Amino acid sequence: MAKQRVLSGVQPTGNLHLGNYLGAIRNWVEGQSQFENFFCVVDLHAITAPHDPKTLAQDTYTIAALYLAAGIDLQYSTIFVQSHVPAHSELTWLLNCITPLNWLTDMIQFKEKSVRQGENVNTGLLDYPVLMAADILLYQADQVPVGEDQKQHLELTRDIAARFNHLFATPEAPVLKQPHPLIRPEGARVMSLTDGTRKMSKSDPSDQSRINLLDTPEQIQYKIKRCKTDPIRGLEFDNPDRPECHNLLTLYMVLSGKSREEVARECQDMGWGQFKPLLTEATIAALAPIQAKYQEIMSDRGYLESVLRTGREKAEAVANETLAQVKAALGYSKPL
Ligand code: TRP
Repeated sequence: MAKQRVLSGVQPTGNLHLGNYLGAIRNWVEGQSQFENFFCVVDLHAITAPHDPKTLAQDTYTIAALYLAAGIDLQYSTIFVQSHVPAHSELTWLLNCITPLNWLTDMIQFKEKSVRQGENVNTGLLDYPVLMAADILLYQADQVPVGEDQKQHLELTRDIAARFNHLFATPEAPVLKQPHPLIRPEGARVMSLTDGTRKMSKSDPSDQSRINLLDTPEQIQYKIKRCKTDPIRGLEFDNPDRPECHNLLTLYMVLSGKSREEVARECQDMGWGQFKPLLTEATIAALAPIQAKYQEIMSDRGYLESVLRTGREKAEAVANETLAQVKAALGYSKPL
């Protein structure tokens, strides 16, 4: 039986942090041998918010290198850049024309981001989920590993596929496959170091709120030393009054590879002064091999370029096939 197909992506906006890694990329790596995987750097999504043209290309390379450094294996996975495959933009347009406007204005992420961006809300921000649907549907993906916050966008993708098939295909021969979200509860929600009720986020203005994959040991130590805690002695999971405590224990559990029971037992009588060095050490140790690999990859630009060239070719072969089917179903004439 053919392997199920997986597609996912991360935006090249600045650096990746622990939330991106634990919530997404680590899960991609763990599951990759079971699937046929496509992992893209979604640089078209990156310009839905104000961006810096001087750093976009470099940030794109950084994310691709971090995919490799985190353990994405080219034997099972294809790594490519979204803007290198024009089919993404083209399918977005075609899907725009079958997507009711109110499906997009109802998206939670659009509502939140448009409040934050104030008067500068561009059409791309509204259309963001249709581009994401195009990313997924072009590859006929079965599974889409994402964080909890992307669940609504996955449901929208399913709705768009169903609507397209209903309007332009038959139940016996659907053109687009409905994908399933693959959401892992462990580590799916890594919270901010400065507020345990908010997600760790690239858009938080304070760098102190997150640990970046490329932070130095000194930066990691400093951030953990100063992170928000509470005055209670004895650490525990799941106490709703202690969100920071739950978040930091979870981070420790995931980064050290210990079980929940082990961590709960180990930390039940600890104070923060005892716990923080343990978390610091586990974090530094977990990131060290990724950082070493990253440096190695970034020092060989030719290698990274060849990975992205091969990735683009493999991605295009699949994407163009779907795009041709979609255009045929819509009744377009063939280009001459
Ligand atoms: N919107 C996703 C995020 O912010 C990124 C993304 C874009 C994506 N296209 C995708 C994720 C396709 C999965 C599949 O995390």
